[in-house]
Amino acid sequence: MVTKKAQYIKKQVRKAGIIGLGSYLPKKVLTNADLEKMVDTSHEWIMTRTGIAERRIADPKEVTSDLAAHAAKQALRSAKLAPEDVELIILATITPDMQFPATSCFVQTKIGAANAACFDINAACSGFIHGLVIAQQFIASGTYDNVLVIGVELLSRFVDWKDRSTCVLFGDGAGAAVVAPVKSGGIISSYLGADGNKSDLLMFPAGGSRMPASHKTVSEGMHYLKMQGNDVFKYAVRVMADAAHKAMKRAGLAPKDIDCVIPHQANIRIIEAVIQRVGVPMEKVFVNVDRYGNMSAASAIVALCEAVNEGRVKKGDTVLLVAFGSGFVWGSCIIKW
Ligand code: UT7
Repeated sequence: MVTKKAQYIKKQVRKAGIIGLGSYLPKKVLTNADLEKMVDTSHEWIMTRTGIAERRIADPKEVTSDLAAHAAKQALRSAKLAPEDVELIILATITPDMQFPATSCFVQTKIGAANAACFDINAACSGFIHGLVIAQQFIASGTYDNVLVIGVELLSRFVDWKDRSTCVLFGDGAGAAVVAPVKSGGIISSYLGADGNKSDLLMFPAGGSRMPASHKTVSEGMHYLKMQGNDVFKYAVRVMADAAHKAMKRAGLAPKDIDCVIPHQANIRIIEAVIQRVGVPMEKVFVNVDRYGNMSAASAIVALCEAVNEGRVKKGDTVLLVAFGSGFVWGSCIIKW
């Protein structure tokens, strides 16, 4: 049955698709062997529990907007657009240059996108999918033609390098997509969800209005990422699978119609459990968590970028993106490439 929402989406005059992609990964590689020298852990534990072999760490001179600007410039080149053509920059991150101004404003200056409106969004690991869905609305309504959606994180500056339960999981990186009107295909369905009751399971406790930064919060390490991993794991599996099914239903598609799945890259065990519930074979799933760890908002877009570059996503393919993160928030999106 075609729902009211699906009918509305079909009625939208302008379809939105991705016309350019870019990514940037800092050069420095931190391996599990390196981590063995820093905390009480082992390559074997990290590999079997997470599937992560290494992650990238930004140079001390780099800030979040630098990573984003590199990815954005590459995306503009691949879309054959000049920086001045960008009308809106939506930047998803939980690790901004600073609380304010928005990191997207720093990126605007760094890439020379003088005509762009800018704002940041916080949808944690689902940030890129949320950004894509927002961009789609601006394009469908006719407000903008060229929207740059960026997912970027510099998590290495926000994790506690003494806490083995979190520091082995995360990495730095950026990805960007140019979203524009397309004649056919593009984004064919999406679904976004949230459960604020679970907000305490994954957060930076200090530095906001609830717990302003003080000597005490710093000495207690409350500005670092805190996560109750196991609870997050179970919830992530359930809602990512559900989000994937909802996006397929809204598009009128079955699992067999999906050519490539780009899941959030937090943990290979989460990916495998989600994919089993979605009913798509693992051969159709793009995985790079082994090389980069969890890059939160950057994970899905970097994976999409690599999947396209490696020929895993080809013209005419149906791609399913699905992600989950702090909030909790989650999202899914189906794109006809
Ligand atoms: O991006 C979206 C949000 N994030 C996620 O999706 C991450 C979700 N969670 C996870 O990926 C997993 O829960 C983890 C990888 C974080 C942990 O795996 P787990 O199988 O859930 O392990 P656990 O938390 O139940 O901990 C098992 C044991 C504990 O020891 P005891 O209490 O059983 O003796 C931990 O202390 O593993 C210990 N442990 C470690 N041991 C060696 C925790 N971290 C490490 C470590 N090295 N790095």
